[in-house]
Amino acid sequence: MNLKEVVGKEAVNYVKDGMIVGLGTGSTVFYFVHALAEKVKEGLNIEMVSTSIQTVELAKSLGLVIKELEEIDHIDLAVDGVDEIDKNFNAIKGGGAALFREKIVADIAEKIIWIFDESKDVEKLGNFNLPVEILPFGYSHTIRKMEKLGLNPVLRLKDGKTLVTDNHNYIVDLHLGYGFNIDEVKNKLADIVGVVEHGLFLNMCDLCISGTPNGAIVIENSNKK
Ligand code: 5RP
Repeated sequence: MNLKEVVGKEAVNYVKDGMIVGLGTGSTVFYFVHALAEKVKEGLNIEMVSTSIQTVELAKSLGLVIKELEEIDHIDLAVDGVDEIDKNFNAIKGGGAALFREKIVADIAEKIIWIFDESKDVEKLGNFNLPVEILPFGYSHTIRKMEKLGLNPVLRLKDGKTLVTDNHNYIVDLHLGYGFNIDEVKNKLADIVGVVEHGLFLNMCDLCISGTPNGAIVIENSNKK
């Protein structure tokens, strides 16, 4: 079994009858959604919302019903992947361009579980470039401002064209380098008009499930903000 599948299956054990569950996005969540669909077929009774059109389509293909955020008043549990996570439970997300919806769902969720294979587990963030969602209106100026602030932005392309998110925005990947100053970058981004949201998810999870060759390792975050 691959490590993403190991953690995807493990996370399903935390989903209980009656919960409203936020489904993340990506190749690790893919296995979680598959395992969840099996449980639902066996009788697990839950409601679900999604962080991306990609996950909605996956869920629907497996017979799951996905609600709109406006149809629910809370989320009990969100399960999502990460691109990198450090020892303080600070993560970079957005490799799959879904960071905005992922952050909204994470912000609403009472409990958050991040699932990943052990390669995502890092001492310090920064080998993975930090995704930032920006508005298309005036985007070249937004990018210029980022350049002036030393954030090394690169507009993300897909098939040679500017990638457009589920929210009809663009993604810029900041090449910050290993061990960048998280607070400094966060503060700089807060000052740039045109930034919709960034992929820094700082100390937001309650539980991490890391996939290792010896199985899933569950790590609790007792210092969650
Ligand atoms: C999408 C994300 C994903 O959670 C992140 O990219 C991890 O994906 P994967 O499980 O495919 O490695 O943030 O925007």
